[in-house]
Amino acid sequence: MSAPEVPYDRHYRESEAACGPPFVELVTFAEAHLKPGDTVLDLGCGQGRDALVYARLGARVHGVDVSAVGIEQLQAAATAEALSLTTEVADLVDYRPSGRFDVVILDRVLHMLPDDDTRRRVLHLAMACTGSGGHVLVADEPKHRELIRGALLAGSWQLVKDTRNRTFARKPGAGSPAG
Ligand SMILES: C[S@@+](CC[C@H](N)C(=O)[O-])C[C@H]1O[C@@H](n2cnc3c(N)ncnc32)[C@H](O)[C@@H]1O
Repeated sequence: MSAPEVPYDRHYRESEAACGPPFVELVTFAEAHLKPGDTVLDLGCGQGRDALVYARLGARVHGVDVSAVGIEQLQAAATAEALSLTTEVADLVDYRPSGRFDVVILDRVLHMLPDDDTRRRVLHLAMACTGSGGHVLVADEPKHRELIRGALLAGSWQLVKDTRNRTFARKPGAGSPAG
Protein backbone atom coordinates (compact mmCIF):
# COMPACT_ATOMS: atom_id res chain seq x y z
CA MET A 1 0.00 0.00 0.00
CA SER A 2 1.39 3.46 -0.84
CA ALA A 3 1.94 6.04 1.91
CA PRO A 4 -0.87 8.58 2.41
CA GLU A 5 -0.30 12.02 0.86
CA VAL A 6 1.10 14.55 3.39
CA PRO A 7 1.39 18.35 2.98
CA TYR A 8 5.07 18.47 2.01
CA ASP A 9 4.70 15.85 -0.74
CA ARG A 10 3.42 18.50 -3.14
CA HIS A 11 6.21 20.99 -2.32
CA TYR A 12 8.81 18.29 -2.90
CA ARG A 13 7.29 17.25 -6.22
CA GLU A 14 7.23 20.87 -7.38
CA SER A 15 10.78 21.81 -6.38
CA GLU A 16 13.95 19.84 -5.87
CA ALA A 17 15.08 22.35 -3.25
CA ALA A 18 11.77 23.18 -1.61
CA CYS A 19 13.32 24.41 1.65
CA GLY A 20 16.13 26.36 0.00
CA PRO A 21 19.86 25.90 0.59
CA PRO A 22 21.05 24.49 3.93
CA PHE A 23 21.41 26.96 6.79
CA VAL A 24 24.97 28.21 7.04
CA GLU A 25 25.17 27.42 10.78
CA LEU A 26 24.39 23.75 10.14
CA VAL A 27 26.99 23.56 7.38
CA THR A 28 29.60 25.37 9.49
CA PHE A 29 28.95 23.05 12.43
CA ALA A 30 29.44 19.99 10.22
CA GLU A 31 32.65 21.32 8.70
CA ALA A 32 34.07 22.17 12.12
CA HIS A 33 33.03 19.15 14.17
CA LEU A 34 32.06 16.18 12.08
CA LYS A 35 34.46 13.25 11.86
CA PRO A 36 34.24 10.58 9.16
CA GLY A 37 32.06 7.75 10.40
CA ASP A 38 30.14 9.89 12.89
CA THR A 39 26.49 8.92 13.10
CA VAL A 40 23.81 11.50 12.36
CA LEU A 41 20.03 11.27 12.76
CA ASP A 42 18.10 13.88 10.76
CA LEU A 43 14.54 14.01 12.13
CA GLY A 44 12.13 15.57 9.63
CA CYS A 45 14.85 15.50 6.99
CA GLY A 46 12.59 16.34 4.05
CA GLN A 47 14.59 16.25 0.81
CA GLY A 48 17.76 16.10 2.88
CA ARG A 49 19.41 19.47 2.48
CA ASP A 50 21.26 18.77 5.76
CA ALA A 51 21.48 14.99 5.50
CA LEU A 52 23.31 15.25 2.17
CA VAL A 53 25.80 17.83 3.49
CA TYR A 54 26.62 15.63 6.49
CA ALA A 55 26.85 12.43 4.43
CA ARG A 56 29.15 14.11 1.89
CA LEU A 57 31.48 14.92 4.79
CA GLY A 58 31.72 11.22 5.59
CA ALA A 59 29.06 10.80 8.26
CA ARG A 60 26.70 7.84 8.38
CA VAL A 61 23.30 9.47 8.20
CA HIS A 62 19.78 8.24 8.87
CA GLY A 63 16.98 10.50 7.61
CA VAL A 64 13.39 10.25 8.83
CA ASP A 65 10.36 12.08 7.46
CA VAL A 66 6.63 11.59 7.11
CA SER A 67 6.84 12.61 3.43
CA ALA A 68 7.44 9.54 1.29
CA VAL A 69 8.17 11.86 -1.65
CA GLY A 70 10.95 13.70 0.19
CA ILE A 71 12.41 10.42 1.43
CA GLU A 72 12.36 8.89 -2.05
CA GLN A 73 14.14 11.94 -3.50
CA LEU A 74 16.73 11.92 -0.73
CA GLN A 75 17.41 8.21 -1.08
CA ALA A 76 17.81 8.58 -4.85
CA ALA A 77 20.31 11.44 -4.40
CA ALA A 78 22.27 9.47 -1.82
CA THR A 79 22.35 6.35 -3.95
CA ALA A 80 23.53 8.34 -6.99
CA GLU A 81 26.48 9.64 -4.94
CA ALA A 82 27.09 6.33 -3.14
CA LEU A 83 26.71 8.06 0.23
CA SER A 84 26.34 6.28 3.54
CA LEU A 85 22.76 7.32 4.07
CA THR A 86 19.64 5.39 5.02
CA THR A 87 16.08 6.67 5.13
CA GLU A 88 12.77 5.89 6.72
CA VAL A 89 9.22 7.14 6.27
CA ALA A 90 7.79 7.69 9.76
CA ASP A 91 5.70 10.09 11.81
CA LEU A 92 7.80 11.69 14.56
CA VAL A 93 4.74 11.81 16.80
CA ASP A 94 5.15 8.10 17.50
CA TYR A 95 8.71 7.50 16.28
CA ARG A 96 11.22 5.53 18.36
CA PRO A 97 14.79 5.78 17.09
CA SER A 98 17.08 2.82 17.59
CA GLY A 99 20.70 3.27 18.60
CA ARG A 100 22.79 6.29 19.62
CA PHE A 101 23.92 9.13 17.38
CA ASP A 102 26.74 11.67 17.49
CA VAL A 103 24.52 14.37 16.04
CA VAL A 104 20.72 14.69 15.93
CA ILE A 105 19.23 17.38 13.67
CA LEU A 106 15.78 18.97 14.04
CA ASP A 107 15.78 21.54 11.24
CA ARG A 108 12.50 23.44 10.93
CA VAL A 109 10.40 20.50 12.04
CA LEU A 110 9.45 21.11 15.70
CA HIS A 111 7.21 24.02 14.70
CA MET A 112 5.25 21.65 12.44
CA LEU A 113 4.26 19.34 15.28
CA PRO A 114 0.74 19.70 16.68
CA ASP A 115 1.44 21.19 20.12
CA ASP A 116 4.08 22.01 22.75
CA ASP A 117 3.72 18.64 24.51
CA THR A 118 4.56 16.86 21.26
CA ARG A 119 7.44 19.26 20.57
CA ARG A 120 8.86 18.54 24.04
CA ARG A 121 8.42 14.79 23.60
CA VAL A 122 10.19 14.73 20.22
CA LEU A 123 12.99 16.95 21.56
CA HIS A 124 13.43 14.61 24.56
CA LEU A 125 13.54 11.69 22.16
CA ALA A 126 16.30 13.44 20.19
CA MET A 127 18.19 14.13 23.43
CA ALA A 128 17.81 10.53 24.62
CA CYS A 129 19.27 9.01 21.45
CA THR A 130 22.28 11.36 21.39
CA GLY A 131 25.47 9.79 22.72
CA SER A 132 27.48 11.41 25.54
CA GLY A 133 29.38 14.38 24.16
CA GLY A 134 27.17 14.41 21.07
CA HIS A 135 25.06 17.27 19.80
CA VAL A 136 21.45 18.16 19.11
CA LEU A 137 21.09 20.89 16.47
CA VAL A 138 17.74 22.69 16.35
CA ALA A 139 16.56 25.34 13.91
CA ASP A 140 13.04 26.57 14.62
CA GLU A 141 10.70 29.48 15.13
CA PRO A 142 11.79 32.08 17.71
CA LYS A 143 8.51 31.49 19.58
CA HIS A 144 9.70 27.98 20.49
CA ARG A 145 13.12 29.09 21.66
CA GLU A 146 12.34 28.94 25.39
CA LEU A 147 10.74 25.51 25.12
CA ILE A 148 13.86 24.22 23.35
CA ARG A 149 16.38 25.91 25.66
CA GLY A 150 14.37 24.87 28.72
CA ALA A 151 14.45 21.17 27.83
CA LEU A 152 18.17 21.23 27.05
CA LEU A 153 19.21 23.24 30.11
CA ALA A 154 17.06 21.08 32.40
CA GLY A 155 19.13 18.13 31.20
CA SER A 156 22.37 20.04 31.91
CA TRP A 157 23.23 20.23 28.22
CA GLN A 158 25.74 22.93 27.21
CA LEU A 159 24.39 25.43 24.71
CA VAL A 160 27.05 25.90 22.03
CA LYS A 161 24.86 28.11 19.83
CA ASP A 162 21.95 30.05 21.25
CA THR A 163 20.29 32.54 18.91
CA ARG A 164 16.64 33.39 18.32
CA ASN A 165 16.13 30.57 15.81
CA ARG A 166 19.11 28.22 16.25
CA THR A 167 19.84 26.20 19.37
CA PHE A 168 22.78 23.81 19.23
CA ALA A 169 23.70 21.93 22.40
CA ARG A 170 26.16 19.32 23.59
CA LYS A 171 25.16 16.44 25.80
CA PRO A 172 27.16 16.16 29.00
CA GLY A 173 29.47 13.21 29.36
CA ALA A 174 32.90 11.81 28.75
CA GLY A 175 34.62 12.03 25.41
CA SER A 176 32.97 15.32 24.47
CA PRO A 177 34.20 16.70 21.16
CA ALA A 178 35.12 20.40 21.08
CA GLY A 179 32.09 22.68 21.19
C1 LIG B 1 10.14 22.88 6.72
S1 LIG B 1 10.41 21.20 6.25
C2 LIG B 1 12.11 20.99 6.73
C3 LIG B 1 12.74 19.81 6.10
C4 LIG B 1 14.22 19.61 6.41
N1 LIG B 1 14.47 19.45 7.83
C5 LIG B 1 15.02 20.78 5.91
O1 LIG B 1 15.47 21.60 6.71
O2 LIG B 1 15.16 20.89 4.68
C6 LIG B 1 9.55 20.33 7.50
C7 LIG B 1 9.61 18.82 7.33
O3 LIG B 1 9.05 18.20 8.47
C8 LIG B 1 8.32 17.07 8.04
N2 LIG B 1 7.34 16.74 9.08
C9 LIG B 1 6.34 17.52 9.53
N3 LIG B 1 5.66 16.86 10.49
C10 LIG B 1 6.26 15.65 10.63
C11 LIG B 1 6.01 14.52 11.46
N4 LIG B 1 5.00 14.51 12.33
N5 LIG B 1 6.82 13.45 11.34
C12 LIG B 1 7.85 13.45 10.44
N6 LIG B 1 8.12 14.49 9.63
C13 LIG B 1 7.34 15.58 9.73
C14 LIG B 1 7.69 17.53 6.73
O4 LIG B 1 7.25 16.44 5.95
C15 LIG B 1 8.84 18.29 6.13
O5 LIG B 1 9.66 17.45 5.37
